[in-house]
Amino acid sequence: MNPGIQLGFGAWALGGRGWGAPGEERARTAAVRRAHERGVTFFDTAPTYGDGESERLLGNALRPFRDAVTIATKVGPHDDPRASLESSLSRLGTEYVDLAQLHEAGTRYEWSLERLHALIEQGKTRAIGLCNATAAQIARAAQIAPIATYQGSYNLFDRDVEQRELPLCRKLGLGFLAYRPLASGLLGGKYASAPHFADSDHRARIYWFKGREFARRSAVLDGLSHIAAQLQLPLPALALGWVLAQPAVGVVLAGARSAEQVDENLAGTGHLTPETVAEIDALVAAAFRPARATQPARVLSATWGPRERFIVESLDGTETYEAIAARWTDGADVPMVAAQVKVFVDQLADQGLVDPDA
Ligand SMILES: NC(=O)c1ccc[n+]([C@@H]2O[C@H](COP(=O)([O-])OP(=O)(O)OC[C@H]3O[C@@H](n4cnc5c(N)ncnc54)[C@H](OP(=O)(O)O)[C@@H]3O)[C@@H](O)[C@H]2O)c1
Repeated sequence: MNPGIQLGFGAWALGGRGWGAPGEERARTAAVRRAHERGVTFFDTAPTYGDGESERLLGNALRPFRDAVTIATKVGPHDDPRASLESSLSRLGTEYVDLAQLHEAGTRYEWSLERLHALIEQGKTRAIGLCNATAAQIARAAQIAPIATYQGSYNLFDRDVEQRELPLCRKLGLGFLAYRPLASGLLGGKYASAPHFADSDHRARIYWFKGREFARRSAVLDGLSHIAAQLQLPLPALALGWVLAQPAVGVVLAGARSAEQVDENLAGTGHLTPETVAEIDALVAAAFRPARATQPARVLSATWGPRERFIVESLDGTETYEAIAARWTDGADVPMVAAQVKVFVDQLADQGLVDPDA
């Protein structure tokens, strides 16, 4: 494990909504307690997780150890920062949080950050941070307010942040908090076929639980299970170990809804050698070889929208989808992520518009 990097606890599923059957409250509380017993000190929540339920449950479970743990919560992009944080403090049963993060760089993120900054001065939070922003927004945010952290999605499949945000955090001295390190549970390894989630479950709208992306990820999961077995590690511990091994990451926020999941996630994390990391990277690279657009695709795209045309022009069989998305985001008002490139390339593939041998 890199010095200073740590496994934290992500408390979204604790809220009991948006993750299928919520499970017993006792089991969710036990997950928090087990994480604390096992030495986890960083806990991340938000007012939107279970409509306040995650904060309530987390606050109750951590009350006896409040001063020994770090509690991070969030403020919605459309909410009044002061009112939102005061409600969070009351649900958490604490006078301050250690970190208050703007959940998304929305249209008035500069205004929100200035208000959050004032809340440090009022003693309601020790530090402030930002989530879900482009590199340009992070750089601007750091000029407006003393942000300490940036939180973005990062796991061995979802690597957009490697292009711009991680290097920028390093340059600006911001702590990087990695969310969805288990790809919302996919890297737990329990899905032999594409799962069907209820409409109320947010995973029903995640593209990697269906279609071609699920098939590509499943092929990688087979290889990962083999590596995990050789190392005698549970698969989720291997996946978390991969994120923990990345040099620019500060805290890996692993979500868990039971003490058993916490135990599994902590089993052996932090001991991946560079050779194992390289082996995992090679498996992922083999399953996600960038496509090359055919000549007919290039001709047809002349009449398509600018974003589609940009993707087709970029598909040369070598540039990664993360790199393509980052180049677009550098010059556009509306950002793009690799997921959008992948979904579009799959549509092109369905029409025979990418070279199958690239
Ligand atoms: N800032 C943001 O916009 C943002 C967005 C997303 C998340 N986050 C934060 O990051 C945290 C982590 O992300 P996440 O919870 O969305 O996803 P995650 O950590 O990738 O996945 C968590 C889910 O994986 C499953 N799981 C956990 N341990 C497992 C194990 N040992 N074996 C099998 N399955 C296991 C559980 O769901 P099942 O049991 O149902 O499979 C758990 O709820 C969140 O809790 C939240 O604090 C922030």
